[in-house]
Amino acid sequence: MSEIEEKVIKIKEQALKEIKEADGLEKLNAIRVNVLGKKGAMAEVMKLMRDVPKEEKPQVGKWVNEARQAIEEKMELSKKKLEQAALTARLEAETIDVTLPAKKQKVGHRHPNQIALEEVERVFTGMGYQVMEGPEIELDEYNFTKLNIPPNHPAKDEQDTFYITDDIVLRTQTSPVQARIMEQGKLPIRMIAPGRVFRSDEVDATHSPSFHQIEGLVIDKSVTFADLKGTLEIFAKKMFGPDTRTKFRPHHFPFTEPSAEMDVSCFKCGGKGCRFCKGEGWIEILGCGMVHPHVLEMCGLDPEEYGGFAFGVGLERIALLKYEIDDMRLLYENDVRFLNQF
Ligand code: DAH
Repeated sequence: MSEIEEKVIKIKEQALKEIKEADGLEKLNAIRVNVLGKKGAMAEVMKLMRDVPKEEKPQVGKWVNEARQAIEEKMELSKKKLEQAALTARLEAETIDVTLPAKKQKVGHRHPNQIALEEVERVFTGMGYQVMEGPEIELDEYNFTKLNIPPNHPAKDEQDTFYITDDIVLRTQTSPVQARIMEQGKLPIRMIAPGRVFRSDEVDATHSPSFHQIEGLVIDKSVTFADLKGTLEIFAKKMFGPDTRTKFRPHHFPFTEPSAEMDVSCFKCGGKGCRFCKGEGWIEILGCGMVHPHVLEMCGLDPEEYGGFAFGVGLERIALLKYEIDDMRLLYENDVRFLNQF
């Protein structure tokens, strides 16, 4: 066997062995460069061709070509195998088990205020009321004057008002919406107006500088105090249960005459007296009354022709009572441990 043939066979066998052992495409590539590359082992052999006698050259060329071909074929085969293995490994790694239980999505909760509001709205829209809105930044004129609270009236001091200018306030009550709706003159009126109100109160368990009220207003021909009582009684029963009784106590509000406060029988003890109602058996729920003729006049209505009733409910008060929450601050802190319970 000639020296060249021996070399070629050795290179070929070494290469085939290395290819067999190669465990990755990079290794295979390295072998290709080392054996078949421009400066590889085969190229080295070809340099020896110079010294081969002319008549033997074709034979040597044949050996070299055969060896190259054998190596290339083996390499191609091995490459395919490695690629297949890599693909299988990737697919296995990416496998998704569709039978696994899904991750639970966290769903938000409605705020107890919102739940209570929607319930109040449902009761009143069920009786044909419309839900209206008014501005939170309000003219002093609407927040006070048109509600029969003229400048220097002591009632102005009762509600600690945030003034923006001499004429503009953060509304201290939702009652100004009454004046705005009456002024539009679309009669009859049957509306509730929920919204945020502001008073410069210190924060404690029952006070906050910002809270919510729901105003109610009915204006029509021949509306009576009996209508007011009947309506608010239905409201109380729907909100706090069918056994709820109501009691109207005379009171004073500048914009209603006569005025009253409505209590409901304690829905915890049924009226016997318990810790919840502080032993009273009754819980104060809202202010109400027949719209004052002077208010009607100032809002462009003829008190001889039209009249009606109004009421104002504290939304937080309803939510606190309904869900037996004893500290108003919990409603504003947005602690999910609290909110998750509703
Ligand atoms: N605006 C009153 C307040 O904030 C509540 C109120 C009382 C509203 C009687 C009314 C009403 O509409 O008739 O204390």
